[in-house]
Amino acid sequence: MRYAALTNRVAGKGSDVWKVHMEANHMAAAGHEILILSIANPDQAPSPALLDATIAALRDRHTGYAAIIGERELREPIAARYAARTGQPCTFENVVVVQGAQAGLFFSLLCIAGVGDEVLVPEPMYATYEAACGASGATLVHTPLRPEGGFHPDLAALERAITPRTRVIWINTPHNPTGAVLRRDELEFIGALCRKHDLWLLSDEVYEEFAYARPHTSAWSLPDMQDRTIVVSSLSKSHAVPGFRLGWVVGPKELLPHLWNILNCGTFGGSPFVHEGAQVVFEKELPEGLEMRAIYQRRAAMMTRELRDTRHCQVSQPEGGMFVLLDVRDTGLGAEDFARALLHAEHVSVLPCDGFGPSAVGHVRISLTAPDEKLEEGARRIVKFTTRLAAEKHPSR
Ligand SMILES: Cc1ncc(COP(=O)(O)O)c(C=O)c1O
Repeated sequence: MRYAALTNRVAGKGSDVWKVHMEANHMAAAGHEILILSIANPDQAPSPALLDATIAALRDRHTGYAAIIGERELREPIAARYAARTGQPCTFENVVVVQGAQAGLFFSLLCIAGVGDEVLVPEPMYATYEAACGASGATLVHTPLRPEGGFHPDLAALERAITPRTRVIWINTPHNPTGAVLRRDELEFIGALCRKHDLWLLSDEVYEEFAYARPHTSAWSLPDMQDRTIVVSSLSKSHAVPGFRLGWVVGPKELLPHLWNILNCGTFGGSPFVHEGAQVVFEKELPEGLEMRAIYQRRAAMMTRELRDTRHCQVSQPEGGMFVLLDVRDTGLGAEDFARALLHAEHVSVLPCDGFGPSAVGHVRISLTAPDEKLEEGARRIVKFTTRLAAEKHPSR
């Protein structure tokens, strides 16, 4: 049987980055003890208040269909948080609840870009973006985030990449995999570009709670941009519940009917007991959320410190997020070969970043989503591995 052309446009995109991780999973299933630092699955227990509220809603049999764009009781406190944090107007009519940030990005993109359009995305970028763009039919255009510039955007290059076909600038702050947290002046410049060239600004802020070098600035906080800005985020990382699939889109009121139509045929809404449980997160700041930020910041500092003297590798402290990037270009191994050799020699699984875009070639991503003692052990094994590698490369030194 023949399959639609769409299946090719989404196939294989970004999946290569997971090869070593899959190998690690097979080794773990075969009984090897593997330190898996290649995936961003939070290791913390979710907040008891969040779990209790969700379980109570389930016991109360809130198990029917939810409103397609989410219950108003949840959309209202989400909107209130955005209004309070950004100083810009936001009501429930600006908010749609979706199944994770991934669904938010995907369905929003389908509403704003299609065949013949260009979507401008700084790379490296999160591995699912290419397939999401492929599904929309739009063409993804890259601009580089260079390691020398701390993986911050080259704003002049971004402007040069705009063509009459460009419809969207898609950003991610704090950034996966580099951790870069955009400065307000960078966001303002990008916002001005969007206004000048009549573009959408799509901002993936799923790591918004994990900004260390400077406070997170939401794209929603840019003045006079609410008619062209779409912010997507979720509870997956901030509250350690990726399995809840609870995310949201904040955008112009006029976007809502379009998202309603797409969700109507795409998901038919989410889970009402999850929506009800999630309300506690927006009604008051849960202590676990604040603790989570402190944990990742501490882990990032520890991992950077432990890897600072790693032979032929460069590490820099991330500005935000849940990852540390290690530049392995001077080891003489490509990122995938490095990750595979590390896995087999030391049973530590890290993620080669080549699939995130050309500017991440030769880097591996270390997830900070494991208990501190495991991360310390992982760092020790990485140092051991690179020391041996250096001795093999330069036996006389
Ligand atoms: C940058 C980025 N965006 C979106 C997502 C998807 O998040 P969610 O679990 O909310 O769908 C992830 C998940 O790792 C991510 O790293």
